[in-house]
Amino acid sequence: MGTIVIKGGRVIDATGERPADVVIGEDGLIAAVGSDLPGDTVLDAAGCVVSPGLVDLHSHLRQPGQEEAETIETGARAAALGGYTCILAMPNTIPAIDHAGIVREVLELGRAAPCDVRTSGAITVGRGGEQLAPLGEMAALGVRFFTDDGAGVADTRLMRRAMEYASGLPTGVILAQHCEDPVLAAGGHMHEGEWSARLGIPGQPSEAEELMVMRDLALARLTGTRVHFQHLSTAGSIAMVQAAKASGLPVTCEATTHHFTLTHAECAGYDPVFKVNPPLRTEADVAAVRAGLTTGVIDCIATDHAPHTQEAKEAAFDAAPPGMLGLETALALALTELDLPIAAVLALLSWQPARILGVDHIHGLPVAPGNPGHLTVIDPTATWIVDPDAFASRSRNTPYAGRTLTGKVRHTLLCGEPVVINGEAQR
Ligand code: DOR
Repeated sequence: MGTIVIKGGRVIDATGERPADVVIGEDGLIAAVGSDLPGDTVLDAAGCVVSPGLVDLHSHLRQPGQEEAETIETGARAAALGGYTCILAMPNTIPAIDHAGIVREVLELGRAAPCDVRTSGAITVGRGGEQLAPLGEMAALGVRFFTDDGAGVADTRLMRRAMEYASGLPTGVILAQHCEDPVLAAGGHMHEGEWSARLGIPGQPSEAEELMVMRDLALARLTGTRVHFQHLSTAGSIAMVQAAKASGLPVTCEATTHHFTLTHAECAGYDPVFKVNPPLRTEADVAAVRAGLTTGVIDCIATDHAPHTQEAKEAAFDAAPPGMLGLETALALALTELDLPIAAVLALLSWQPARILGVDHIHGLPVAPGNPGHLTVIDPTATWIVDPDAFASRSRNTPYAGRTLTGKVRHTLLCGEPVVINGEAQR
């Protein structure tokens, strides 16, 4: 196999930036970082940024149960092409990832994938919101992130109990919430506001998200438990998290690429590709998400990669499932749309989510000798047009088809193995 040298790039990591070649040894670890270094295989990085691999806290991989939309393998390949070396599977599979047996199955399937696949576990049995899932047995297998994603845990007492139980686990886990009050949101297919009124599509108000953020902040204060808020989409939610952080609560949050690039006006053509949960919101909300990413109130960008088959997404707006693809476009959208230096974008996509997930001893590490060769080489000036037919994902439901984006993944290395070379998946 021999050594690999990534040549002529600019290294950017949590410690800063510098021009450097990066050599990966046969053991998959970074062997040397410096100028004019030799290697058996050369990966060209001229004009490129060499970064720690990206980490996604929010990938729906659909296996088991909905393999017609995605599998762990196709989702992981999409992730590698998007520059990710670690993704976290969401538990709303069929059946749900809510006990040790399924955790083992998902981790086993992930072992052969071209990306480090981790899994979350459900907070409640079957994500049914009624009975606490066996968090301890899942944590014993390495699960560090629990959520009923796709739904929030509506029962306040159960959520309190989950927090108390989680804080007693020896391994240190994080409870994450999809904030949506199911009663207030019931029957809503988009954001409730000017566009839902015009289009005659029932909406769900911002308050459906905000009430659960408010409640869980109160519960986090009561129990002292770490809480992570998933895909925050409203200015009000972000303001509450900002205040909570300022008061010292140990909370973190994420925002998706679609919530800083699209508004509810996109639903004007009744195209279900724009249907997502939480829904696309107002311009003021988009501005608040962008501001939160700039000020650091929002800790990371997550994809909420949610593949759905063409048949499912060809239904009428109110009958179609919510969700859109994200893994193959997130980096380019962030580079194209956010007014942030590339180092700040990479912090939001790599080392900050790695820290939240507790994989920061493996992923998002500085590009330095001895660290694992989980790396992404990005051409920040390359422009490309989003073509869903070119995606590795098994699904095609991207709202960005035909958009020109700037910034493209050139190579991705997983443990020193080039799983993407010149934008082509190697396996
Ligand atoms: O839009 C969404 N799609 N939001 C979710 O919370 C779930 C996801 C899915 O699984 O399709």
